[in-house]
Amino acid sequence: MSHDIDALNLDFDQIDQDFAQFRGLPIHTYTDQNIYDFEIDTIFEGSWQFLCPVAKVANIGDIYEGRIGRSNVFVTRHQDGELRGFLNFCRHRGFKLVENNTSGQKLIRCRYHAWAYDLNGELRAAPDTQDQPGFQKCDHGLIPISVTEWGPIVMVNTDPNARSLFEEHPQIKSWAEKNGIQTDPNHYEEYVEKTIRQKSNWKLWYDNGTECYHCNTIHSASFGEAFDVREGNYSFELEGGMTSYSFASTEQLLGDELRSLTYASYQIFPGLQLIQQDDLMVLGRMTPTGPDSCDVTVFYMKEKTADQARVDCWIDVWHQTFEEDGEVAEVQQANMTSPHAKVFQYVASREEPTIFINRLILQAYKDGVAKRVIKREQTHEPA
Ligand code: FES
Ligand SMILES: [Fe+2]
Repeated sequence: MSHDIDALNLDFDQIDQDFAQFRGLPIHTYTDQNIYDFEIDTIFEGSWQFLCPVAKVANIGDIYEGRIGRSNVFVTRHQDGELRGFLNFCRHRGFKLVENNTSGQKLIRCRYHAWAYDLNGELRAAPDTQDQPGFQKCDHGLIPISVTEWGPIVMVNTDPNARSLFEEHPQIKSWAEKNGIQTDPNHYEEYVEKTIRQKSNWKLWYDNGTECYHCNTIHSASFGEAFDVREGNYSFELEGGMTSYSFASTEQLLGDELRSLTYASYQIFPGLQLIQQDDLMVLGRMTPTGPDSCDVTVFYMKEKTADQARVDCWIDVWHQTFEEDGEVAEVQQANMTSPHAKVFQYVASREEPTIFINRLILQAYKDGVAKRVIKREQTHEPA
């Protein structure tokens, strides 16, 4: 899809000046449909994104579907034990093949006219096509995407020829090792899944989720009470497309019931938040759904031997925390439409990861515009 560069209304000289003063992206980027479409193409299409926990597709014939960028996709566990990923798009007339997650499947049959595909994506049945001249089933296999499973997560990329996840994010393995992230997918079992349909631009979710400047205010009765969120008592790393956070033990802050001894987290841009806290693994997936909306799905996984009552208490703390985050982003969003609004002013000492993410977004904008310029030159479009 092509985008008119002028319609994006991005003045990179001005944005660079603003960023040099720790200010934010232009306010219209939080509401504008052209910007949203551009972001989906340049940031979400063709990048590695979290689809689901490995536990969702642990067994042969398990199928899990989701939306990545502009595309509906699904992954399935093939008989050879490996995952396959496809566009969720019937080669007959584009129906969404997999409408619900399922298990124990050998064939994926389209509900519309019954074309059926095997777990390798090959077309196995297409009623009444046998006499059609030139029609060959082997020409109509499913459209592949890239899929990789690592530790507890399944990552997908709609580009079938994408660079590997580990080339794209070389820190994945070393940071996991350094931070003690459990990478045995069998270590956890699925427990609870919750989705928050947030009425805010996806970048407000990011701004919020990458700083703890608000932990003492917004989360005073949830996360801020559970962890030592004072400045200097937690650490983070920023590199490539990843950020990581570690909070110290809360032994001093809480009684036995909710005491948390280990906390490590990391985020893979765009959209994945992975938090390992004691016997709980919290996997968050943010999916943009429009200029002023995004879905935040959180998969809570627990160790098989975890104390259920304690885990339930922690899930309540986490869910309350995420709801509080969603609420403030929605209040912010309602202010983004004012023509008189001014760009954000970040606080460098407390919002460094947020500034880092905004720089990633700005770089993606610049790369996207540069590609558009090249395309325009190649097609001799008028300037
Ligand atoms: S669209 Fe799938 S069989 Fe017709
Ligand atoms: Fe928060």
